[in-house]
Amino acid sequence: MIIDTRPRYAVIGNPIEHSRSPSIHQAFAVQCGIKLEYDRVLAPLDGFVNAVQQFFSSGGRGLNVTVPFKEQAHRLAKAHLSTRAQLAGAVNTLWQVDGELHGCNTDGVGLLADLRRLGHDPADARVLLVGAGGASRGVLYPLLSAGCAELRIVNRTVARAHQLRADLLQHMPELTHKVSTGSLNEAGNDWNIVINATSGGLSGEAPALPPGLYARGALAYDMVYGSTATPFMKQAHDMGAHHCEDGLGMLVGQAAASFEIWHGVMPGTAEVLAQLRAELNAA
Ligand code: ATR
Repeated sequence: MIIDTRPRYAVIGNPIEHSRSPSIHQAFAVQCGIKLEYDRVLAPLDGFVNAVQQFFSSGGRGLNVTVPFKEQAHRLAKAHLSTRAQLAGAVNTLWQVDGELHGCNTDGVGLLADLRRLGHDPADARVLLVGAGGASRGVLYPLLSAGCAELRIVNRTVARAHQLRADLLQHMPELTHKVSTGSLNEAGNDWNIVINATSGGLSGEAPALPPGLYARGALAYDMVYGSTATPFMKQAHDMGAHHCEDGLGMLVGQAAASFEIWHGVMPGTAEVLAQLRAELNAA
């Protein structure tokens, strides 16, 4: 009998079968000369805590957490959260130190890395964030700490946008003048970067945004991705956005930041991203 002694990592969620994290982490591992096993764990909707405990008690080293468990992971690792995770209110990376669970959120740094890769550094940019759910919450603080000049959050349900701002300002009252909120039709004009963090694209819908959003040379960035342009990207193209991109690079960027936490080395992302894009286009 051959016993597999490679350290074990996994992504946990529900559903999980379509997760690309195993192939991303395996590709990073090959690149960095690290041997590991990386699986998918399907946790029952009411069984996340048990599944995490079982994973670590059987020797697992690290978990990526995806929909719908990121908030539960935050509660579970409450004693040892990174600042990023505290401010995001959600955790996508778990590991143990001396038997204690630690949590971080790498979604925001993944987004920042991808925006920079695309030549749209948010520093000094006017940024419009569309949506006020968990996905927006996760990237709000990283965008602000990257030094954007102004950040406006708009949402179909405007009260959720107000709440997001209020939660942020509790931690960082000095940002009051930089962050504003409104409904979708109050999105304003001439943004340098417009980020779609709504889940509407999953059901084929673009958010109902007014014309005039995009400044000259602007980037429209959808946090979801697909084998063809997303509904938001099509809308942005029709509205004259100069550059339209989906969130595949963010997915690879957040995985790279998790990999660095676990293995102490930051992998290169370009080749893995190109490979994933080719697979997605071929599928
Ligand atoms: P997530 O954790 O993925 O952010 P969520 O907390 O359910 O998921 O939030 C989904 C976001 O997408 C919300 O901002 C939601 O708007 P509401 O707060 O008004 O529900 C937004 N959303 C979903 N479908 C949408 C649509 N068709 N048009 C505009 N916004 C939409």
